[in-house]
Amino acid sequence: MFKQWFRIDEELIFPNENGIALIEVESKKVCMTRIGDEWHAFAHKCPHASGRLDEGFIDALGNVVCPVHRYRFSVKNGRNTSGEGYYLKTYRLERREGGLYIQI
Ligand code: FES
Repeated sequence: MFKQWFRIDEELIFPNENGIALIEVESKKVCMTRIGDEWHAFAHKCPHASGRLDEGFIDALGNVVCPVHRYRFSVKNGRNTSGEGYYLKTYRLERREGGLYIQI
């Protein structure tokens, strides 16, 4: 499918107590988390059995941990670091002059 870039208003990203924000871009729900200075964007639903990743947490190594069966995924590249063989969709982000953009 053809992908497009959309600007995200950073003022409207509100991470929850576990550091994960749920935003909506063109009717698509996307999770966002900030590690250091860098935002990362990934799918709202876990690729294993659709657990809500905004209800999970980020571990010390930068993995999102699914709240349902605790599988772990790198928020940088979607790799299933706990080894079950799934792959989490991640989204490209770019900082440009006009702000932060996401490719959907
Ligand atoms: S639904 Fe996420 S690990 Fe099973």
